[in-house]
Amino acid sequence: MTTPTRFQILVCDGPSCGLCLDSEALLEHIHARVAASAQLEGRVHAINLTCFGRCDDGPNMLVRAVGEDEDPELEPDLDALVAVRGLYLGMDKARVDRVLDEHCETGQPIEDWVDVY
Ligand code: FES
Repeated sequence: MTTPTRFQILVCDGPSCGLCLDSEALLEHIHARVAASAQLEGRVHAINLTCFGRCDDGPNMLVRAVGEDEDPELEPDLDALVAVRGLYLGMDKARVDRVLDEHCETGQPIEDWVDVY
């Protein structure tokens, strides 16, 4: 299997995850980790998405491969997320680190943690 070369990470920032659970801190952590890694920089792009509809499990994020013709800095059409196996629930910085080190390195979701959007 070919490892996807680029990933987009969507971190929800709706009222529940954003205001109550400080998902912005996770986004800043991802940006810092990516900027500090030659393996990740330029391949992994993290932006906000309003809500995955799983607020009770938050804060959440979704990892998806992006095509060469896609701008990973733009919020995708929600249809592009249907059936994507890359939704991670209940994230903290340690869990984010593992997703960056495993999913974003190998292209393979962490089976014990991942859910479908
Ligand atoms: S704001 Fe995170 S799932 Fe709704």
